[in-house]
This record gives sequence, C-alpha cells and structure tokens, in this order.
Amino acid sequence: MYYNRILIYISIFIFFHMGFARSPHRLPDPDSPILIVHDKETDCLHERYSFHFQKKIFDLYDKEFFFENLFPESINDIYGKPVFQDHLSNDLEITLNEILKGKKNFTYCTVLQKKNFNFRKKCGLLILKHKRYPLVIKFFLESAQSLIEPGWKGFEPNFIFFLSGGIGRQLAGFTRVKNRHYIENILRNSDEWGSRVILPRKWFWIPKKNYSIKITGKKISQKDFLETEIPGIYAVIADFCPHQDDPRYSEIRDSEVMKLCNFLNMYVDPHENNFIVTHSDKEGLVITIIDTEHFPSMVGLENQITFNNHAEWFGFLAFKCLKDAYFRTKKMRKEIQRIHKEDLFSMSIT
Ligand SMILES: Nc1ncnc2c1ncn2[C@@H]1O[C@H](COP(=O)(O)OP(=O)(O)O)[C@@H](O)[C@H]1O
Ligand SMILES: [Mg+2]
Repeated sequence: MYYNRILIYISIFIFFHMGFARSPHRLPDPDSPILIVHDKETDCLHERYSFHFQKKIFDLYDKEFFFENLFPESINDIYGKPVFQDHLSNDLEITLNEILKGKKNFTYCTVLQKKNFNFRKKCGLLILKHKRYPLVIKFFLESAQSLIEPGWKGFEPNFIFFLSGGIGRQLAGFTRVKNRHYIENILRNSDEWGSRVILPRKWFWIPKKNYSIKITGKKISQKDFLETEIPGIYAVIADFCPHQDDPRYSEIRDSEVMKLCNFLNMYVDPHENNFIVTHSDKEGLVITIIDTEHFPSMVGLENQITFNNHAEWFGFLAFKCLKDAYFRTKKMRKEIQRIHKEDLFSMSIT
C-alpha cells in the first residue's frame, strides 16, 4: 500500500536523526533522563540518555502476573490433542540453544517472522511455529546492552523505542498476555462482537537457565530513582491460527478491522497483518486477533482516539513520529518529563 512506502522514508529519516544526530563527544544535558542497565553476570553497566524515556518502562513487567500465566502442565491444542509442558519445554530449550549457537533453521520450529531479530547479536523478537504442535512461539531475547540499542534490531524497533518512551519490544511483549485478558473482558459484554472475535490463548514461557536484566532510571517523569528487573529471555506461546483471509470479505476487511479496533479503544494495533478475517455460517464475518501487544504503550498514545480508516491511522502515526522527533523544543521535552500524567492506558494495563 502507498503508506508503506511513506513509512519507509519516515523511518530512514527518523532512524538517522535518532541514532546519529548527536555527537558522541557532546556531554549529555544534565537534566536528561537516563536509563542504566546492569548485566549481573558480567557486572557491566550500560547507560543511555533520552528525554523520551517515560515511567511506564518500569510498570510493564508484572512478576506475579507473569508467573501466574506460565504455560501449564498440559493443554489441549486447537484440535483437542494434549500438549505436555515438559515435552514442549524440551523442544523449546533445544530451539533456544540453536538460536544461541547462531543457527537460522531449527529442529522443532519453522520461522514465521525474523525482521526484528539480530541473529549475529542474538537479540530481538523471533517468531516461530512449532512443527508438531499448532503453537506459535514468540521468543524475546535481550542482553543488558542490546536492550538499550534498539537500532541493532532494525528500523521498526528503533523508532518504536522512542515513540513508546523507551519501552521497546522486550518490555512491550509482557503486555501481550495481559492485554489479551483485557480485550476478552470487553468482548464478553458485546452483542456486536462477542461471538465474532477469536482470541488465540497465550502463555509465557521461560528457559531453565536464564538471567535477569536490572534497569534503573534516573530523572524520569520527575522520579529520582526507578527500578525493575526483567527476564533476559522469555517467550509468549500462542495457539496457531491455521486459517487464511476469506476473499469474500476483502472489500470490507479493513473497515471491519478498524471498527473493531475503535470498539477496543485502540488497545490493538490496526495493522492488517494482525488479523485474520474468516467466515462462519452462523456469524458471517469473524475476526481472529493474532497480535495483542498493547498498542497505546507501543506508540505512546496518551488520550483515547478513534480512526475512520487505515490511511487516517497511518497519517496520525507518521505525524506523531515527526512531531516527537523534530518538533519538540528543549523546553517542551523538559516539560513533558515534569507534567507526566498517568495515562488512561498504562493504568489499566498494569
Ligand atoms: N497465533 C498466530 N497464528 C498464526 N500466525 C501468527 C500467529 N502469531 C503470529 N503469527 C504470524 O506472525 C506475524 C507476526 O506476529 P505479531 O504477533 O503480529 O508480531 P509483531 O508484533 O512483530 O507484529 C503475524 O503477522 C502472523 O503472520
Ligand atoms: Mg503484528
């Protein structure tokens, strides 16, 4: 689509601005918010300064919720066949080992998406499909250093990192399960959508041998000191959706998806790839939401918003990118840190 091309131009523009605009010899602004990440294994500290950083970096990982939502002892897959956690974990440990060895093809999984993963530095988001089970595995891997180097994982993670106030994909990944629960609750009470939306189940998974990354924030959102500790490696496991879009709905697909996203307060990203639109004899058009990452956190929305169509949604994002990157004066950047409000979305997701 035409707006994909515009996105590429804007990304290149912003990438260069954000990645390289400031001379490394220039001292950081003494008021600048700072993130310090601590690698406990090597005892190395890495730091990054940016007025974009926001307090929600420290709110998204909810340890209790994470451990309550780990993949259980066993489940029945979408075809009703049992999947045992110890068998699956064994396959995932082997897959992780292969990733850490730098392999790009895996014994038990095929690759669905690798555009946000750096195979050389072994960091980012890698989306796989299990060969035997109808399950999708979204692997999140970061080291302390790579966590604050979004550019290592491509254009998209780089500008998402700044748009989202420093969250990035590793932290946003934690919203995928909680936001799914939230969406399920809204849909339960909807006559219009309740029976026409499918939400694949989702769980977290962690390997036996893992490490944690300690993130400390200073001067962020008027707080002198903020701290969180997140797993360096984890996965989100989801039911695989085996269907293709039904061509009979191709003309109304985008408008139906946008209607649904508006109904869900834009809690899901309206991007076309995040939905599969199929037909059921009883309900007619049915939408499967495969990506439940909390969209307001990802792009830093602070007020509730609705869009009439995808072009309007895209225009809004492009303008927000430009505004956040270029049209904030030093005074405005400092002001944003001072008058930070707990936004509607981050409150209900944490
Ligand atoms: N549960 C699923 N069933 C089928 N395909 C999936 C599923 N989850 C992800 N995918 C495939 O992987 C792609 C990327 O997944 P997504 O969760 O949207 O990642 P991202 O946050 O990078 O957009 C999707 O567009 C889809 O093609
Ligand atoms: Mg997606």
